[in-house]
Amino acid sequence: MKTLLAQPGFLAPSGTIGADISYLLALVFTVLFLVSWGMAKKAQGTRHHNLILVSMVAMIVYFCAYYYARQLGVLSFEGREGFGGPDDIYENIFVPVLTTHLCLVVLGMILAFYMLSQGFRASEKVGGDYQLKEGPLKVSSRRFKIVMLTILGCWALVQVLLLVFRESPFGASVAYALIFATVALVASLEKLIEKLLPDGAKRHRVLGRTTMIIYALILVTSTATYLMLYVFYPAES
Ligand code: HEM
Repeated sequence: MKTLLAQPGFLAPSGTIGADISYLLALVFTVLFLVSWGMAKKAQGTRHHNLILVSMVAMIVYFCAYYYARQLGVLSFEGREGFGGPDDIYENIFVPVLTTHLCLVVLGMILAFYMLSQGFRASEKVGGDYQLKEGPLKVSSRRFKIVMLTILGCWALVQVLLLVFRESPFGASVAYALIFATVALVASLEKLIEKLLPDGAKRHRVLGRTTMIIYALILVTSTATYLMLYVFYPAES
């Protein structure tokens, strides 16, 4: 698989199949998200919800397959060897663009999960079509406790599995502790978001638009990274 992905690509003279496929899929997913934004703007709540769900699931499957196939050999880890341009462009343009891209991807993923559940909570079916419910939307303190305890329980389960199946689980334990702490932090941000944007429908629109703008920026930064790596400054081979 790795050899196949490293074969010459079809988009740019210096690209690889892996880079070209991943760029094209990123393009397709972003366009799907933006089309589903257009549907929401035209008040087509159910079509918007269907397209968002399908593209989210496809995007997650793609991310898992991609990271598995390339074994984390993503652009960021190719580092300086993948970039054939001058040092000042590398330091002042390539690294900041790539760092911004990675931060946006992390933020976009967190917001996508949040928005999916918020979308269901903030809307209701009226005559077979999803519509946003105007009015305050709050998580009850009982449900909040259940969410926190579930996160704690999953973390404890992962710890036990690591202790049983791994010989030296320290590094993985720290990584999982950080991941679960982030999940708990994001879940607890809900209380702050409730204070800032109490109306569920308004919250969905404001955070939904922010998420869509982040997706558009992810496409801009990934296009810039692709062009720099494979069109303007390919590494000498
Ligand atoms: C990643 C997930 C999601 C994002 C980024 C998102 C984004 C948006 C945005 C930006 C709007 C407002 C459009 C505008 O006026 O500019 C919107 C409206 C809406 N969304 Fe979502 N959404 C997501 C998930 C969902 C889900 C899962 C549902 C339903 C279960 C849903 C139901 C709705 C409805 C009913 C509207 C109102 C459409 C209307 O104005 O009639 N959304 N969404």
